[in-house]
Amino acid sequence: MCGIIARVGDGDALAELMTGLRNLEYRGYDSAGVAVRCEDGIDVCKREGETDVLDAALVERHLPGSVGIGHTRWSTHGPPSDANAHPHTDDDGRVAVVHNGIIRNYESLRRELREDGHRFTSETDTEVVPHLVARELDAGADAETAFRAATDRLEGSYALAMVVADEDAVYATRHGSPLVLGLGDDANYLASDVPAFLEFTDRVVYLEDDDVVVLDDAGYRITTTAGDPVDREAETVDWAAGDAQKGVYSHFMRKEIDEQPTSLRQTIEGRTDSTGTVLDAFPPGSLASIENVVFVACGTSYHAAMYGSTLLRRRGVPATAMRANEFAHDPMPMSDRTLVIAVTQSGETADTLASLRVANESPASTLAVTNVVGSTAAREADDAMFIRAGPEVGVAATKTFSSQVAALALLADRFEEDGAGIEFGREPRSKQATARASTTDGGVDAGTIRSLPDDVETVVNDGRAARLAKQYADADSYFFIGRGVGYPVALEGALKFKEITYEHAEGFAAGELKHGPLALVTPSTVIVAVFTGQDDDRTLHNVREAQSRGAPIIGVGPESATEIRDAVDEYLPIPDTDPELAGMLANVHLQLLAYHAAEIRDRAIDKPRNLAKSVTVE
Ligand code: F6R
Repeated sequence: MCGIIARVGDGDALAELMTGLRNLEYRGYDSAGVAVRCEDGIDVCKREGETDVLDAALVERHLPGSVGIGHTRWSTHGPPSDANAHPHTDDDGRVAVVHNGIIRNYESLRRELREDGHRFTSETDTEVVPHLVARELDAGADAETAFRAATDRLEGSYALAMVVADEDAVYATRHGSPLVLGLGDDANYLASDVPAFLEFTDRVVYLEDDDVVVLDDAGYRITTTAGDPVDREAETVDWAAGDAQKGVYSHFMRKEIDEQPTSLRQTIEGRTDSTGTVLDAFPPGSLASIENVVFVACGTSYHAAMYGSTLLRRRGVPATAMRANEFAHDPMPMSDRTLVIAVTQSGETADTLASLRVANESPASTLAVTNVVGSTAAREADDAMFIRAGPEVGVAATKTFSSQVAALALLADRFEEDGAGIEFGREPRSKQATARASTTDGGVDAGTIRSLPDDVETVVNDGRAARLAKQYADADSYFFIGRGVGYPVALEGALKFKEITYEHAEGFAAGELKHGPLALVTPSTVIVAVFTGQDDDRTLHNVREAQSRGAPIIGVGPESATEIRDAVDEYLPIPDTDPELAGMLANVHLQLLAYHAAEIRDRAIDKPRNLAKSVTVE
């Protein structure tokens, strides 16, 4: 949701700023721009469109200088255009600013500045910032004081970076939007996210809200808004630069689908042994007092949260998943025996953070399940569990969904071992355990979880989804259905499909089809049915209801399920495993189906229209 980058150091800034913007493009691609401190002031170049368009403009116009800022935009205030692209400047071009977030009081600030004679050239909320700074400079303040005074007037969320015409320095701060400092040998960087500068350095300082940072020839300085020095520890990130690059792949999404065996190994590594689950952050007994769990999350992470809540309920723990944008305003009643789990890949999703903050104000304890060490969610929750999937760049989440589910499966086993939950849940839980045991070799155990990466590899290497994407390319609609853990997978399959193909796709609980949606089913509706090895006979019944209305059926389910295979038109097999993990394997087929369907339609797979990864506005 907008990416910002800043760079101060030896040599020219432009090439590194452009690399940073390309690496941040997943956060928004409506426009891009840079501002570089040059000999006689500030040079700005900005264009509507992706970074390629800016690149083309820069061929004719090199901006020399070692200090600069850059921005890639996801529009909130004002449509995509050259004028609304960042950086924004004041009337005289003495101050240039890039911004990620939303300045809520921009209209009143604009009125006030207009009355003072300032002229605005864009429709953005951001443009008030350079004007506020310029007004302070006119009143005699130095750049740092002017920056502090300007940001003091802002309400809302922001990560801001600023250059001024007469100094080789960058001034920056954050308040509710992410900003991380990168410490290189020859240059220092500020960016919305680590991958922006990962090619230049892996040493980072995660900034806290209201830190004010100055980068200049002397290095970097962090202070509070009041100007008191702040000491923040530098850390080395364990992501390699290549992890955030496309390499031989034509799309990040395909690369990230293929990476799942590796990312899952990373998620699981060291967290299981022959005795079961080993979670350092949650030693045996640490979850024993938890009576109920509420998951809060958005989008794909919400589907992983639904999956996790199903696993917990089956273990006798009352658990529910709520959409974070709902929970933040209508929270679930919580006690000191409630655990609120925020599931968020980025750790920066504004809706999820809002929910986390509501939970932090309540007696409940909180846990962030996230991919990003140092993210806001990880820092604000009482505890954090990292899914260790590595950087995900494609806007459509893929490998992080699998790693979230695997992490939650491990956590669910710890809940079970700790006997968390309520007495009422115990009996059904043992019945569930019996049901699981009767359908598999004995339920999810550490060994089954450890075999997940190999099983995922089998699915990733299966080419059948490509053929089916082509065969059913002319359908009017695509309905995804499933039950149990197959239900969140159906929702996720539909989300992925609509998100990158722009086709009509919906996910339903299999048993719900007959309560209304069946009215929409025609021979042009493809039904994709998820089977897990549990309650499949019921799902097959629902499939037959759709089949008798002429709908073609693609089944996704266990390799050995011959009855299902015979009943459906097409079958995407997954290796036989515990039904609780089968959903995640089935999801990999659905990722591939969506990917190939989007490829046939020549869609912008990594950057679907109107979307951005890391949605940092509510
Ligand atoms: C869909 C997708 C989004 C995100 C959602 C939450 O493919 O990626 O739906 O899952 O915006 O993002 P995080 O997990 O970063 O909180």
